[in-house]
Amino acid sequence: MRIGALFAGYGGLDLAVEEVFDATTAWVSEFDAAPSRILEQRFPDAPNHGDVTKIDWATVEPVDIITGGSPCQDLSHAGKRAGMKAGTRSGLWASMCDAIETIRPAFVVWENVRGALSAEADSAVEPCPICVGDGRGVSLRALGRVLGDLAELGYDACWAGLRAADVGAPHGRFRVFVLAWDATRPAGLEGNTAPTVAADLGHERPRAPRDRRTGPADRGREPVALLPTPAVNDMGASYDVERWDAWTARMKAAHGNGNGHGNSLHIEALRMLPTPQAADGSGGRRSSELGGTRPSGAKRAITLATALDHIDFGQYAPAIARWETVLGRPAPAPTEPTGKGGAHRLSPRFVEWMMGLPDGWVTDTDTSRNEQLKALGNGVVPQQASAALRHMLTLKGAS
Ligand SMILES: C[S@@+](CC[C@H](N)C(=O)[O-])C[C@H]1O[C@@H](n2cnc3c(N)ncnc32)[C@H](O)[C@@H]1O
Repeated sequence: MRIGALFAGYGGLDLAVEEVFDATTAWVSEFDAAPSRILEQRFPDAPNHGDVTKIDWATVEPVDIITGGSPCQDLSHAGKRAGMKAGTRSGLWASMCDAIETIRPAFVVWENVRGALSAEADSAVEPCPICVGDGRGVSLRALGRVLGDLAELGYDACWAGLRAADVGAPHGRFRVFVLAWDATRPAGLEGNTAPTVAADLGHERPRAPRDRRTGPADRGREPVALLPTPAVNDMGASYDVERWDAWTARMKAAHGNGNGHGNSLHIEALRMLPTPQAADGSGGRRSSELGGTRPSGAKRAITLATALDHIDFGQYAPAIARWETVLGRPAPAPTEPTGKGGAHRLSPRFVEWMMGLPDGWVTDTDTSRNEQLKALGNGVVPQQASAALRHMLTLKGAS
């Protein structure tokens, strides 16, 4: 099967779709320069058609699966919640609809943030928020619009929400996934049988309330402390631990709600460094991962790289150990030296590991540290997407 990947980022969603459908990525559409360079290196045979709003879909190679995590800024709880509407970045879902309508793939895979369950949307059947309903509240949410648009195009769908922690990752990162298939084809032609699913199959079952920062306690496992999930917003990056804690304490005293944004991954990574020391040359790798190759030059560098083998991951140790077991490789050092006076900062290689990517998928590309952190903050954990897809294929098969 061939995949056309919209809003491709570093291709995390497509790694999962390739694996689950035994498919190949035929082409991508990504307009930002840094992720485009990552894609060029990681999917060298897939041409990049660039900006989705400028593509003539009739001229691109037909594919069996169209994927896309359309921009989430206007749906995310971290943003201004402008919604999935014409003119917003999240409104670019409309371009994905154009691609689906023209190419008519057998399957569509869509992914987005938790805010898709609640952010407002408009659509062709509801051109303004009060056109359906009694005018006193929101009538249409983003996920509802996506499912409605797909239905209008002749696609049945099911959907699922889960956290990266549900597949063992050391952070939460709830994401919604939709699997849709062309219901206008005779059964079997979309690569599976009986493409009909009851409308309520995708609903989440009610669960006991739980602390979102901990693991899946409701499955009888020991809850573990989870790290903040990687984000594009590099909150806390300009602080050291002491300044961050002092600022948070001041905010709590003044407003009663800490910093109002939750924890910072940068700061939590710094807390895991046993003792701030002089700069090393490990580039975010543990000394054991350097395969005995000593960083060139400085003796002090070798000393710290060795010390990094004894990182105390503190309250996050069980979550880190769990993901090490799932991935089958050790966590890289969480921080790297800034090169200024022994100071350290969050290591993109550690974030890449948190995101479940092959070592170097993003960090060994022709991109800067900031570009890497941005792409990683935007990306999909492939193992999480694979679990969601397998679950949804089961739902589809059961219908
Ligand atoms: C949420 S990220 C998708 C992440 C991706 N699924 C992954 O696993 O890495 C959305 C991506 O859409 C890209 N994007 C935004 N507007 C676009 C447009 N008009 N055309 C193509 N890509 C666009 C952004 O640069 C960003 O990389």
